[in-house]
Amino acid sequence: MRFDHKSIVVTGGALGIGKAACEIFAERGASLAILDWDEKAGEDTRRSIEANGGKAMFQKVNVAEFGAVEAAIGAAAEAFGSIDSLVVSAGIQRYGTAVTTDEGQWDEVMSVNLKGAWNAARASIPYIRKQGGTIVNVSSVQALASQQNVLAYTTSKHGLIGLTRSMAMDFAKEGIRVNAVCPGTVDTPMLQWAASLDPDPDSVYEACNAMHPIGRIAQPREIAEVIAFLAHDSSSFVTGAVWTVDGGLLTQIGGVPKTDQ
Ligand SMILES: NC(=O)c1ccc[n+]([C@@H]2O[C@H](COP(=O)([O-])OP(=O)(O)OC[C@H]3O[C@@H](n4cnc5c(N)ncnc54)[C@H](O)[C@@H]3O)[C@@H](O)[C@H]2O)c1
Repeated sequence: MRFDHKSIVVTGGALGIGKAACEIFAERGASLAILDWDEKAGEDTRRSIEANGGKAMFQKVNVAEFGAVEAAIGAAAEAFGSIDSLVVSAGIQRYGTAVTTDEGQWDEVMSVNLKGAWNAARASIPYIRKQGGTIVNVSSVQALASQQNVLAYTTSKHGLIGLTRSMAMDFAKEGIRVNAVCPGTVDTPMLQWAASLDPDPDSVYEACNAMHPIGRIAQPREIAEVIAFLAHDSSSFVTGAVWTVDGGLLTQIGGVPKTDQ
């Protein structure tokens, strides 16, 4: 799966799943535009891609601000000559119920996870539509099921599926395919942060490993490989699709008694 002569924008490309996607695209020949609000991590990722022979630019952007996203994607198109694909991986997790989530948290999560995805798509599509291409939104298993105490996050991730399907319909005739991946738990800085909120962070990892039928959480590249497939012509008949990449998490039904097998 080569990406020679392709230019790819990755929001949230400084760390975690987005960074792993950038690395795979760069290893396979693409030019990368990394959009992220973490300048240090973004520059580190750019430098390490270039040190490995890849081509990348980094731009410090808050994806919630359309003007900044539009300017960054315009600069990437100018530098690379085209935009072929967009991957939306920028996202934040916040905790609360319908009662304990305050308006600031709700707005923050929606503006990054949902509006940020729309911002990146509406700034990229004018370029992608010139030759066709792909958009991959990183949603979550929490788009298809939920946990306790994650109201804003799970709502934003459900919304991202709607955004994905809606854009898939609107732009199919223009050769733009739009898909979503729904990861289970992935070993990234986001998970490290979430675990650090618990008095016993190791127990969070143990619980996450145990809840996936495959017996462990994912490494970022295991999600990024599916992102790469959906971004590539290899998936040419896939659009509007929602791909779980969850080690079987959403497949299981609890309560079955243990047997010897
Ligand atoms: N880690 C998991 O277990 C997991 C599971 C399912 C879905 N996801 C989703 O995958 C995506 C990537 O998650 P991750 O685990 O790699 O997270 P991460 O925190 O490790 O990386 C997210 C990246 O997004 C950037 N970012 C966050 N808000 C931003 C903003 N407003 N503007 C620009 N950049 C911003 C961060 O700086 C960071 O580089 C997220 O959308 C997350 O919700 C993660």
